[in-house]
Amino acid sequence: MKIKLSPRLEVIANCVAGAESMADIGTDHGYLPVYLVENEMVTRAIASDTNQQPLKKAEKIISEQQLEKQIETRLGSGLSVLKPGEVDAVVMAGMGGLLIRDLLEAQPDVAMQKKKLVLQPMNNQAVLRKYLESSGFFIIKEELAQEGDRVYEVLVVEPGAMTFTNPLEYELGFEFYAHKHPLLIALIDRKIFLEQQIVRNTQGKTTAVAMKQWQESSLFIEKLNEVRKCLSN
Ligand SMILES: C[S@@+](CC[C@H](N)C(=O)[O-])C[C@H]1O[C@@H](n2cnc3c(N)ncnc32)[C@H](O)[C@@H]1O
Repeated sequence: MKIKLSPRLEVIANCVAGAESMADIGTDHGYLPVYLVENEMVTRAIASDTNQQPLKKAEKIISEQQLEKQIETRLGSGLSVLKPGEVDAVVMAGMGGLLIRDLLEAQPDVAMQKKKLVLQPMNNQAVLRKYLESSGFFIIKEELAQEGDRVYEVLVVEPGAMTFTNPLEYELGFEFYAHKHPLLIALIDRKIFLEQQIVRNTQGKTTAVAMKQWQESSLFIEKLNEVRKCLSN
């Protein structure tokens, strides 16, 4: 039986569409490459992870689905497992934004190839967008996926140049913002919820770091509420 993907992984799979080959960096369970090959969305895939345990999980499902000829597994960190230009699309999903940034920075020969990168940071999305802007990348497309009350941001990136014109675009994604993505309000609500948690945790604390964080988060909530109000009108 073919595997089914969660909404988040399905959005990522659709962003890979059009590539002949792909690599899934930090594959864990291996669902994404298996789905892409089973559904003939790519002909060849590399499933890679820095940890042996998750790679074993991926190897198990690849073998159960009899896809060993089309999906190769590789043990290693980030893009170090790839040669420049080896695949048409590289996915880094379900990892923190800072880790994704560090992995791109560590292997510029692979990251800067004229190939598609599909990035799905779990946090620090604004830091990642700032890094992409200042490091010679261009966001071709952005997508959102919802699972329960969580909203996931997916960035499709290539080498190129871009300039953000509004600071909020780092947080909300210029595409979601410019084209009023149907999940944009849900994304804003999720960000407000997360910032409210920070405000609660830093409320009344007297260290300089906590006070600064409280102020930044409170201001950010105000801005997000303003944008939300504009979008709802
Ligand atoms: C939360 S899982 C995400 C799995 C899958 N990509 C997804 O989106 O559902 C993160 C995976 O990244 C792997 N990982 C962490 N650091 C890594 C690195 N430097 N290089 C490759 N994989 C890494 C972990 O071992 C883990 O299997």
